Amino acid sequence: MDPSPRPAVVIDNGSGYTKMGFAGNVEPCFIIPTVVAVNESFLNQSKNLSKANWLAQHNAGVMADLDFFIGDEALTKSRCSSTYNLSYPVQHGQVENWDAMERYWQQCIFNYLRCDPEDHYFLLTESPLTSPESREYTGEIMFETFNVPGLYIAVNSVLALAAGYTTSKCEMTGVVVDVGEGAAHVVPVADGYVIGGSIKSIPIAGKDVTLFVQNLMRERGENVPPDDSFEVARKVKEMYCYTCSDIVKEFNKHDKEPTKYMRHWRGIKPKSGAPYSCDIGYERFLGPEIFFNPEIYGSDFTTPLPVVIDKCIQSAPIDTRRSLYKNIVLSGGSTMFKDFNKRLQRDLKKIVDTRVLLSEARLNGEIKSQPVEVNVVSHPIQRFAVWFGGSVLASTPEFFTACHTKAEYEEHGASICRSNPVFKGMY
Ligand SMILES: Nc1ncnc2c1ncn2[C@@H]1O[C@H](COP(=O)(O)OP(=O)(O)OP(=O)(O)O)[C@@H](O)[C@H]1O
Ligand SMILES: [Mg+2]
Repeated sequence: MDPSPRPAVVIDNGSGYTKMGFAGNVEPCFIIPTVVAVNESFLNQSKNLSKANWLAQHNAGVMADLDFFIGDEALTKSRCSSTYNLSYPVQHGQVENWDAMERYWQQCIFNYLRCDPEDHYFLLTESPLTSPESREYTGEIMFETFNVPGLYIAVNSVLALAAGYTTSKCEMTGVVVDVGEGAAHVVPVADGYVIGGSIKSIPIAGKDVTLFVQNLMRERGENVPPDDSFEVARKVKEMYCYTCSDIVKEFNKHDKEPTKYMRHWRGIKPKSGAPYSCDIGYERFLGPEIFFNPEIYGSDFTTPLPVVIDKCIQSAPIDTRRSLYKNIVLSGGSTMFKDFNKRLQRDLKKIVDTRVLLSEARLNGEIKSQPVEVNVVSHPIQRFAVWFGGSVLASTPEFFTACHTKAEYEEHGASICRSNPVFKGMY
């Protein structure tokens, strides 16, 4: 059967959440945590039994392959039973546990999307820093285990740009600022090609904001049960945090009118079932502030995000810089804080304008530079811009010709997946 008339499956496996669905749709069918709960007792049995007892070993292995859960179900299982151990297969944007990843894909395909992988082309995503070996593994699993007819592994930032929501025409030159749960990358793209040497990563992402909020609440002595405190901090962050324009002014505003700015969190203690409540104060604006003043979070990394973006663009070829400043696209859940785009645009514009003024002063004002347009683009779908870009790309006829096919895999092996064409070209 020719699978190309069927919609391609699009899966964006993030460190925190997996977005999955079918090409041509506006939204993913499911957004679930990228986590697997495996029954450790079967796994241990299959490892510990002697080779002589091969039948029992085989059976324990089969049971371990069957008795596992993913996403929210996995989190519930591990909470209710100590025999299930959680594994997070993607860490900082890279697959770290291929066994768990394969199990995860299995459930995504058969239990969530409920499709036969042999009938659909697949589009998967990777971080801009993914190694060729990792791409090969992905190809091997997709072609060998799931027998997919065609596979395309796209760079997530390029997809965010391809989402094409910035203009009526899809603009393929710009800088993608993708900040998710475990990874944050600033990726310049010119005419659809990643400028590989200028990619910048920062070691602060959504998980760090959650940890910071959790810490602030703990230090203030808020009455949150320790078992629950990370989850509560995550929800508080997603619901109440916002980006302020000036941290000192914001402290003053909160102090003057606490009732206006303070929020309350009500929860139930998981063990006793007793209700509890706590106040949410300064963490509302201090959480996202770690992107702009990272020294408040730790001393290991202290470069603000706008400076990282500026360095990224300054290291790109000179003829691309103006167009890059003009189209800075946000992507990923951790760019969703209210006014994040405005603060980024203001701080970046300040850096750029200061540089222009300095260079004019050096020339004694003899030559006037053209002002540089800085434009940070924000949009409601930026939470899953990568997935949406994948959905758009995989619904074009060209997608099917760009895919690696099962026939190619059988002829040349997994090495066909090693390189990604978006890194080729002129740069
Ligand atoms: N409305 C919101 N405001 C702030 N943060 C949010 C919001 N919604 C989700 N997040 C955060 O965004 C992060 C998840 O974003 P996303 O799904 O883009 O990450 P990911 O793709 O799983 O991870 P990565 O790209 O780092 O591998 C989580 O930290 C989550 O708490
Ligand atoms: Mg992501």
